[in-house]
Amino acid sequence: MLTLALNKGRILDEVLPLLATAGLDPLEDPRRSRKLIFETRHPGLRLFVVRSGDVPTCVVHGAADWGITGKDTLLEHGGEGYYEPLDLGLSRCRLMTAGDPTFTPRPGQRLRVATKFVKVAQRYFSAQGQQIEVIPLGGAMELAPLIGLADLIVDIVDTGNTLRANGLAPLELIENISARVIVNKASMKQHRAQLRPMLDALAAALPPAPAEEACA
Ligand code: PRP
Repeated sequence: MLTLALNKGRILDEVLPLLATAGLDPLEDPRRSRKLIFETRHPGLRLFVVRSGDVPTCVVHGAADWGITGKDTLLEHGGEGYYEPLDLGLSRCRLMTAGDPTFTPRPGQRLRVATKFVKVAQRYFSAQGQQIEVIPLGGAMELAPLIGLADLIVDIVDTGNTLRANGLAPLELIENISARVIVNKASMKQHRAQLRPMLDALAAALPPAPAEEACA
């Protein structure tokens, strides 16, 4: 029996129909149940649903053989201890810096950056040779510049509505984000014969990639 770890929230809404097309869907809807572990239509697969950051943790420790979560979560986790064989192309968004468009830092000013992506923010600004103070927050990062807690934020931008509604603007793109499949390294070796057909079924269930825009 293999175990799949899924990400709660928006990704789950997009991943469940994909799992259904691939014949890997849970026998009951995890969003409407207090149960924690679910059997699936595939007799060799069960799944559980956890917070995003717990997906790579469970996969790295072998508590799940494979998992599905956002690239943002994987970047923050550090990318060690698992393979990342499949980009599902779902739940696309951008990981960005954002802030008050009128904010201008003083020369040499150490920026205060509010985020739940602490490691990503440190890596990004340090690659630019910029010292920052990270203000760790669990959510509602957009609030931080409004209440004087931070100069900038690092957060997910999808439609941009949350930023706009708060008088903020997206500034620099850190990474394009989408949902990814990750696999425990030992499971990939030991259970390849069971895992491979599941990954192939998932890949086959993906909608066709949007056509590239033609060059002018
Ligand atoms: C995310 C993110 C932004 C918002 C961006 O929050 O943190 O606040 O979505 O989406 P938009 O560009 O379409 O407005 P989410 O609602 O997932 O909740 P969270 O703060 O708990 O992460």
